[in-house]
Amino acid sequence: MRSASSDLPIRFDAVTVRSGAVIMLDCLDVQIEAGAPTVLIGPNGSGKTTFLRTAMGLIAPSEGRVTWGGAESAPPLRRAFVFQRPAMLRRSVQGNLRYALIAAQVPRARHETRIGELLALVGLDGLGRRPARRLSGGEQQRLALARALARDPAVLFLDEPTASLDPAATKAIEDIIRAIAASGIKVVMSTHDLGEAKRLAGDIVLLHRGCIVERAGVREFLTAPRTAAARAFVAGELLV
Ligand SMILES: Nc1ncnc2c1ncn2[C@@H]1O[C@H](COP(=O)(O)OP(=O)(O)O)[C@@H](O)[C@H]1O
Ligand SMILES: [Mg+2]
Repeated sequence: MRSASSDLPIRFDAVTVRSGAVIMLDCLDVQIEAGAPTVLIGPNGSGKTTFLRTAMGLIAPSEGRVTWGGAESAPPLRRAFVFQRPAMLRRSVQGNLRYALIAAQVPRARHETRIGELLALVGLDGLGRRPARRLSGGEQQRLALARALARDPAVLFLDEPTASLDPAATKAIEDIIRAIAASGIKVVMSTHDLGEAKRLAGDIVLLHRGCIVERAGVREFLTAPRTAAARAFVAGELLV
């Protein structure tokens, strides 16, 4: 396990994010700590992507503040983000990883070894020379994870990492996420799939219309949800 990150805890104090008249996050107070993955769930439009981007430091709150390990402007060097539809560079798989290693300022002498390690970690060994854009959707998502890990992050944000993948590809991604979390990297991810949250989460944050309606450990969330919205979500009803 790596040592506790100076980026943790990530703390939201009365955080509101708005764009014009649209309130995307509404006065959130929450703290994300080291440990098993924190999984954001909620229907489309509930604010999951906005939450992740704000927690990464890509969006500044309109009101309130976000702190990382107690500091308001921690350099985001040890955070990495995988977007919902990651763009592959028009290069080989290795080329994509090399680009990420250069961006992360990893010395060139380490690149070959590191590329081998990263490919093995995401199960893409043997595909290093394949043009990245010719990979399947699941393989592209695995490459996106490997690129993010090239930064050697302490916190990894994943926005719906298995959306639009079939069950086999989803399982492969979930296995990698489990391995990443077991290595001591804090995973903060979103999904609209309650089953995925059950399989991966240490704790769950349920968002609805930009508000946190429930926050609990996974077992408590599933067996004893406190709010009507959480009970409905756990029962498989649609939150609208
Ligand atoms: N750039 C933007 N400008 C205005 N509204 C936005 C923007 N991005 C997202 N929204 C709105 O903010 C809300 C939350 O969106 P989002 O964080 O993408 O939710 P989710 O990821 O849960 O689907 C939605 O109502 C969405 O329409
Ligand atoms: Mg989203």
